[in-house]
Amino acid sequence: MRRAQQLGRYHLLDRIAFGGMAEIYRAKTFDGQGHPHLVAVKRVLAHLAEDDDFIQMLVDEAKIASLLRHVNIARVYEFARAHGEYFIAMEHVDGKDTRTILERCRQKKKPMPPEHAAYITAEVASALHAAHTALDSKRRPLRIVHRDVSPSNIIISYTGEVKLCDFGIAKATLSKVNTKTGVIKGKVKYMSPEQALGRKLDHRSDVFSLGSCLYEMLTRVPPFTASNEMDLLIKVRDAKYRPIADLVPSTPPEIEAIADRCLTRSRAQRYQTAAEVETDLRAFLRRYVPNYSRSHLGRYVRKAFAAEIERELRMLEEYVLDDQVSDDVGENLIAREGDEAAPMAVPFQPRPAGTSDVIMPDSQLTSSAEDTDGDGENSTTAERRQMRAEAAFDLHGAQTMIIDPARHQARPRTQSAPPPVPPPRPRTQSAPPPVPPPRARTRTQPPRPAPDFGNDDIHREDTMILDRGRFRPGRG
Ligand SMILES: Nc1ncnc2c1ncn2[C@@H]1O[C@H](COP(=O)(O)OP(=O)(O)O)[C@@H](O)[C@H]1O
Ligand SMILES: [Mg+2]
Repeated sequence: MRRAQQLGRYHLLDRIAFGGMAEIYRAKTFDGQGHPHLVAVKRVLAHLAEDDDFIQMLVDEAKIASLLRHVNIARVYEFARAHGEYFIAMEHVDGKDTRTILERCRQKKKPMPPEHAAYITAEVASALHAAHTALDSKRRPLRIVHRDVSPSNIIISYTGEVKLCDFGIAKATLSKVNTKTGVIKGKVKYMSPEQALGRKLDHRSDVFSLGSCLYEMLTRVPPFTASNEMDLLIKVRDAKYRPIADLVPSTPPEIEAIADRCLTRSRAQRYQTAAEVETDLRAFLRRYVPNYSRSHLGRYVRKAFAAEIERELRMLEEYVLDDQVSDDVGENLIAREGDEAAPMAVPFQPRPAGTSDVIMPDSQLTSSAEDTDGDGENSTTAERRQMRAEAAFDLHGAQTMIIDPARHQARPRTQSAPPPVPPPRPRTQSAPPPVPPPRARTRTQPPRPAPDFGNDDIHREDTMILDRGRFRPGRG
């Protein structure tokens, strides 16, 4: 038996990942009807939680991400502070990220079949185009650039859904954490040449990065590799890579041409929009595997990770929630301008409306042999569980409201240990707890102005990731 730790509205289950910026947990929470939901909770590491500028950047970026609604973008529910910790709650994608899938491909010495590579890339292109063309409430372009389109941010669910995540957080991650710690590993590989040069970026940078992901899916290796960071940056800057057909001669030339056009050094020669990439990939897919559908991809991932899926399910069944569940949901730091009084309508609460403490009710774990997705094979329990949860409550249709950031300044973090979790209230409540009122502002610094979403310059700052003294751009 394992005990779930509570953080705001969420009960943290297993840790999915651990990085330089945050830890990611699978977490359980309940909707207004008492139905359980799995979400992903990204908990900011303690040393960064003490950095006010960093937290403010995360707030700004999470705000942008929370505005995006697209089937291929993992939803952000809230960026909050509870029990002295900062965290982002987002849609949990029950599956594997593309980096993990590609590692499995490398182990098995088999590249991903081109139809899956085409489908995944087309879905991500659709997500990117939606973000690139997103407008604010006054219909002015937001000019969002993801900046971190890379295999670890593309997650494939066991039902074959493709979700791009870490929207917007990327900018904060690259510009702040990396300059501070010098950690830029991994991500440099998927940068665009203009990003490696620290230039001002537009949406075409994401198109290049998407091309790097497509290349790796087709060949198992990233287009740019080097034994040290500086050489890697130079390779990315020059955008010179081995032709795909050299590595995998069986690659259909049409899809190779699409990857090449994404990976063009000159922005003007590249695909000009992610939508064009999507169109070409879908046309390729229609010719290459005419009856291709999402369930093909789901089956491919389920087959590759069958043992892990079983293990994950067993592990989730072992968790129990504490008897003493706190109703302290913390404060949500995402805010919408001009929406002073509106509370954040995060559709979750820490406890079920009913009384069940079981992490996964039996009704969600019952097996049945039906072929729910019509792909001629039985779905996994994980898949059925997810489908039932989705049918029960259209979480993604729910409106996430956002409150004014200026009222939700982070409090000074002078204490070295997080404050104790407040004592639990008696467990008699059936309605979701009210969001606590904003706390008094006690900072000495003046509050930051709320970012102007209509301003073209939300991504104006250069991506500062280089020791410019060491790396002289412009000679490629
Ligand atoms: N919303 C999510 N649902 C499921 N898994 C997720 C989610 N977000 C992140 N992950 C998992 O955590 C991993 C690490 O995420 P992240 O901290 O963003 O690291 P990275 O910087 O390598 O992308 C992802 O590659 C993915 O496997
Ligand atoms: Mg990520």
